[in-house]
Amino acid sequence: MPKVLFEPEGEATIEVDALEDMTLMEAALMGGVPHILASCGGICSCATCHVVIADEWADLIGKANEEESEMLDTVASRRPHSRLGCQVKLANAHDGVRVIVPGES
Ligand code: FES
Repeated sequence: MPKVLFEPEGEATIEVDALEDMTLMEAALMGGVPHILASCGGICSCATCHVVIADEWADLIGKANEEESEMLDTVASRRPHSRLGCQVKLANAHDGVRVIVPGES
């Protein structure tokens, strides 16, 4: 059961006990994480699930593919380790992952 530490900028960390094969977006919605709207329901077409993977987890989580990267280009707060939460599937190896949630996504 991978625990995810969501860190909304300027707000308290929210710990979510996610399930393997959930996406980061689903875990965020389950935990009531602010700023994650997931308007498109997880089909990589809205970018309202934008998150930033903490540096120490970025390699394990991996990079966005081309389609996801194009969608991320529409996000003003994009950073080097930005991902769309709906495109990151969680595994037990991700237990303890830290995810920053920009105030505006
Ligand atoms: Fe729309 Fe992730 S929920 S791109």
